[in-house]
Amino acid sequence: MTSVDSVDMNKQNEFARLISMMSDRPKTFCVITYGCQMNAHDGEKIAGILSSMDITEAVREDADLVIVNTCCVRENAERKALGNVKYLAHRHKDNPRFLLGVCGCMVQENKDAGEAKRMFPEADFLIGTHNLHALPEVLYNAIITGGATVSVSADDRAPIAEGVPAIRENRHKAFVNIMYGCDNFCSYCIVPYVRGRERSREPGAILREIEGLLETGCKEITLLGQNVNSYGKNLSQEISFAKLLHKIDALSVPRVRFMTSHPKDLSDELIEAMSSLQSLCKHIHLPVQSGSDRVLSLMNRRYTREDYLNKLRRLRAAASNICVTTDLIVGFPTETEQDFEDTLSLVEEADFAAAYTFIYSPRKGTKAAAMDGQIPAEVSSRRIERLIAVQEAHTRAILGAQIGSVQTVLVDEVSRRSASHVSGKTEAGISVSFAGSAELIGRFVNVQITSAGHNTLRGSIAF
Ligand code: SAH
Ligand code: SF4
Ligand code: F3S
Repeated sequence: MTSVDSVDMNKQNEFARLISMMSDRPKTFCVITYGCQMNAHDGEKIAGILSSMDITEAVREDADLVIVNTCCVRENAERKALGNVKYLAHRHKDNPRFLLGVCGCMVQENKDAGEAKRMFPEADFLIGTHNLHALPEVLYNAIITGGATVSVSADDRAPIAEGVPAIRENRHKAFVNIMYGCDNFCSYCIVPYVRGRERSREPGAILREIEGLLETGCKEITLLGQNVNSYGKNLSQEISFAKLLHKIDALSVPRVRFMTSHPKDLSDELIEAMSSLQSLCKHIHLPVQSGSDRVLSLMNRRYTREDYLNKLRRLRAAASNICVTTDLIVGFPTETEQDFEDTLSLVEEADFAAAYTFIYSPRKGTKAAAMDGQIPAEVSSRRIERLIAVQEAHTRAILGAQIGSVQTVLVDEVSRRSASHVSGKTEAGISVSFAGSAELIGRFVNVQITSAGHNTLRGSIAF
């Protein structure tokens, strides 16, 4: 296959320069992001682009320009974003300069510009997921014309835009995209329709970005992709995800994480890397979705329950104290009580440290949405409650087992509950809070674990 092209950014840089010189440009912005880490990182890129035009970040109520970065993975994510857009539309009345932009997956879902406009009539501009780098041009047109401008590309093999600036939430932690899109078409999932075909970034571009981050004091890199295990397949020089991890390890990054891994593509080479690479955190998020082979097949996941459990056993044999987390869906069409019991028994067997549990939400245009046997809401609600209770017992036991141990914590922030405490994450990705002050943010601290809460640990600095 040929290498993926990258977009020429000169034109956009020129629009950014023009806007920065306009006296009637918005002076302040706020980005509201829903959805996954990929979208969160898109939000950081939006902030980076706007800051390059001399527009400064503000809280939602004070911003001249608000961009709602949407998600459509489940109905409730859509509802929240729509609610916020409706609420913000009133700001046009109070502030004639106010601009409202909508971008992200809900915009891309309506590939046709007219349809996207009908969904968000209140927006001054709309941008699909393949065109985010064109924000300067779209914003320029919105300021000049005062009418709604739309940039949605139906090209799902869209080239990758390199060199888009990003303003990261933290200096010590950063998301780095390694690939875009997804080719898996799990039957319930909208992501392949709104993020396009799988496209990997060149290893050189990834390594350069990481080197730049290390120079500014970054301690933890999270590599992002919808299915990182299939990284490298569309590059002119194929390279596996495990090989990329080796190259990143050679840069001496203190901590490397990645998400998300598809179980079907979890290779022996990656399992080996998990055990041997110093920089890799002993944590893997490995969504299983269901414990029933019948449901897994209908979901088009392309592995069986036993395949999954086998891979877990091999991972744990190679990296003994690896922490495994997962995603689970209940109420997939035709799911029987027996299928659901199979999910419960898998959760018992797999012993996950944590699980994100979801009620199946039909997404228009996906295969599962057209299936017979949709499950009534009250059945799904009952099932998810039982599932959460089973998982909670495992989380409690795994957290409880850490009491008395000393964990290395990378400190993220002052605790939300108490100004005299800080919190951060262990290598396994578990949150720990302990007495300490803001100057510890961005540092590694050894913490003795003294107690365990619902999802988090508490401790004190180990001297
Ligand atoms: N690429 C990642 C994450 C995709 S979305 C992966 O493959 O794991 C994150 C999670 O949302 C999925 O793992 C799945 O559990 C859930 N999800 C996706 N579509 C859904 C739907 N239609 N209804 C309910 N949950 C869904
Ligand atoms: Fe969706 Fe499946 Fe792709 Fe994940 S792997 S984004 S669940 S289609
Ligand atoms: Fe949502 Fe789009 Fe991510 S649908 S989960 S924001 S890829």
